[in-house]
Amino acid sequence: MPASAPAPLLGRAVRHEWVLDPDFVSVNHGSFGATPRVVLAAQQEWQRRMESQPGRFFRAVLPDALRHAADRLAAFLGTDGKDVAFVENTTVGCNAVLRSLRFAPGDEILVLSHAYGAVRNAARFVAAQAGARIIEAAVPFPRPEPDAIVAAVAAALTPRTRLAVLDHITSGSALVLPLHAMIAACHAAGVPVLVDGAHGPGQVTLDLPALGADWYVGNCHKWLCAAKGCAFLWASPQHQAGLHPVTISHGLGDGFRAEFDWTGTRDCSAWLSVDVAIDFQARLGDEALRTRNRMLAADAASLLSRRLNTEVAATGALAGAMGLVRLPLSGPVTPQQSLDMRARLLEAGTDAPTHIVGDALWLRLSAHAYNEIEDYQRLGEIVARVLRDV
Ligand SMILES: Cc1ncc(COP(=O)(O)O)c(C=O)c1O
Repeated sequence: MPASAPAPLLGRAVRHEWVLDPDFVSVNHGSFGATPRVVLAAQQEWQRRMESQPGRFFRAVLPDALRHAADRLAAFLGTDGKDVAFVENTTVGCNAVLRSLRFAPGDEILVLSHAYGAVRNAARFVAAQAGARIIEAAVPFPRPEPDAIVAAVAAALTPRTRLAVLDHITSGSALVLPLHAMIAACHAAGVPVLVDGAHGPGQVTLDLPALGADWYVGNCHKWLCAAKGCAFLWASPQHQAGLHPVTISHGLGDGFRAEFDWTGTRDCSAWLSVDVAIDFQARLGDEALRTRNRMLAADAASLLSRRLNTEVAATGALAGAMGLVRLPLSGPVTPQQSLDMRARLLEAGTDAPTHIVGDALWLRLSAHAYNEIEDYQRLGEIVARVLRDV
């Protein structure tokens, strides 16, 4: 956006761009994203093209269209389309990397204590098959210092560590981790790094080669507002040989892109419409939007923590477009209590999720273009009401 252009209107002024229910307090963009109408329309147009001439579409249109979409996405990520493959979601992409690597008995895979459960399970699965072990680096919490997080990763590395799986932005604790320094610490010990970047694209500005990871998996259907099922796997050129999708198909042995671009007949419309999501993000301000979302999340978390008389989990560089506020419950919380609280909040009209981190229950809120501070005032009312009833 040129410096002289007026900042786009956000919040209520753009909410009509989405099909979001106006009566529901939608403050959980982080879990599943929300796809704007313009992207849904583009996706549906690709589906129409596919179904109007399936034989021609799959043979003559799709291969080039996929690569064109990969090039557009790669430019948004600061990288080259030849290093990018589409996958359905971050879980699939992390599985592809983990299941392509060979581990031996006694090897160690480092994960963070705040790792996302599905990705941690995939690491556990491949470790168990090989007789390898999972080692957890304990992320200090709440309000950690970036250096302390890097030190926790460095302290968990041993001569037997073969891979580190690092989150870019953690799920339950909503921390934007000091990824560059964490990767450098792993590389200094000769350990390659797979980044779970589920929340990265569209929440923070990315320059993938500059980050220095070996593999980066990111969702476009979260913060970039692409259609559901749009995610990517970036692999540094040196790691592309030997990297396979979870599903082996016709392209076996023909290289990274050929193997990932075709894993069988499927609907690729979420990937093919990613260019429209990128253009939409640009229309809303790109970098300026990301900054505004971070500031809104910080204001919202502070508002909630004052209302509940508790604390926020992160400030400064570690705080992104998701905020985490402790709920005022006494004593240790159980997973069932968290599930009950989520169900009550949904019933009461909001999707803000709860997560147990440490021994406390935390409420996570998200801020995207369609949100404004009134959403969190309404959230505060709902949370206070639900807490009175428990
Ligand atoms: C850190 C993290 N990793 C992975 C995932 C999984 O994403 P998906 O369901 O798109 O595979 C999530 C989802 O919220 C996440 O927060």
